[in-house]
Amino acid sequence: MVYYIRFLKPPKFHQEKDKKNPKQSRPQQKKTVFIAALICITTDLGDDFLAEDVDLVATWEQRSSRQSMDQCALKWQAGCRQVSISMGPYSVDHVAQHEAVLHIRPQAIQVPQDVLGIESTPLVISGCSAPFQWHAQSPKPAEKLIKRELRITDSDPALSLNIWEETGNSIARHIWDAALASIIFLNEIITGASTSTVTSSGSGTETETGSISIPILSQLLKPLSRSKPLQVVELGAGCGIVGIGLATMLDGCKVLLTDLPEVEEIVMRNLDEAHLKPSSTVDFQTLDWDAPPSNLCSQPIDLILVSDCTYNADSLPSLVSVLGRLVRTSPEALVLVALKRRHESEGVFFDLMRSAGFKAQHTSIELPTQHEQRDEIEFYCYRADERE
Ligand SMILES: C[S@@+](CC[C@H](N)C(=O)[O-])C[C@H]1O[C@@H](n2cnc3c(N)ncnc32)[C@H](O)[C@@H]1O
Repeated sequence: MVYYIRFLKPPKFHQEKDKKNPKQSRPQQKKTVFIAALICITTDLGDDFLAEDVDLVATWEQRSSRQSMDQCALKWQAGCRQVSISMGPYSVDHVAQHEAVLHIRPQAIQVPQDVLGIESTPLVISGCSAPFQWHAQSPKPAEKLIKRELRITDSDPALSLNIWEETGNSIARHIWDAALASIIFLNEIITGASTSTVTSSGSGTETETGSISIPILSQLLKPLSRSKPLQVVELGAGCGIVGIGLATMLDGCKVLLTDLPEVEEIVMRNLDEAHLKPSSTVDFQTLDWDAPPSNLCSQPIDLILVSDCTYNADSLPSLVSVLGRLVRTSPEALVLVALKRRHESEGVFFDLMRSAGFKAQHTSIELPTQHEQRDEIEFYCYRADERE
């Protein structure tokens, strides 16, 4: 399980007495401001706090230039539930001119973006606040959002993803572990990299060489094998990270992200910051599996993406029914399902897919989790069984 830095209270500039200099006169106090924020480090579900010590760095940056204005060291200690941040005092004249952002990252991470990869994904994912600004009458606090600045691969800085998510614990409007793993997996498939799977065993870590390849998916994602754009639909896209990630990595794909209406605003924000391949496009359309339209899809689909959507057993029959309908009009379509098993009831998904006439190839990759353990994310590449 990867852990995510979150804002419990997003940053803002505010005026208070300088604790280091309490005898300061009132006019003097009015000339200085502080930055205050409150953070925690939790799993994607927000149900568990990181139980390891981590040294963190908070950096106040100018929003437009991302120039660092000041930094402070913080410590997250195993067992804690929040860390408060107080930086300053700063002169009002100094802060008033620019919008600010607050970037929080583990001290050990020296690069501005978190690099994804089987070996490189960090245990703690950094985050950058929304902009905030000092104003004497009405200071503007940051919105309750956090931006994940990710690099899809170490070797190519152009393959970057800026994904906003909510700081709270909504199901839909944030990133789930299977989504991070999907980006890593799709990049491995597209680049044809053969990978090592790392398994933990008692006292130490063993490395085995293995391949995560799924040949029919590799074939589909080979740029040269296509004369027309790759048509992709993502179900339950959340913030849109997987579909946007695919169109960032792959030329010539047309991705349609779908989810409930509540994600539209954050998806649009993420599309505004996307660095898609020039010949690829990403759009959004609402699609509720419980109330799908009668004309579900007007054109053939090549690939359907589903990441971390099997956690709720109650919604599985409608999810599988939508998949069945999509594949009836596009019998050649592949369905890539990424999941982290959270409870046994998710097993119903596999029974429903079998009954709906799907056959799967299966592989997995591992993400880091605390105490130097690894956590498995499973991938199932389904296709309609031709005998059905
Ligand atoms: C755990 S989130 C995963 C989000 C994203 N795929 C990811 O991996 O980061 C599950 C997603 O399924 C969506 N979802 C749940 N029920 C749905 C329904 N009936 N119709 C459409 N989407 C639904 C939620 O809104 C949410 O975005």
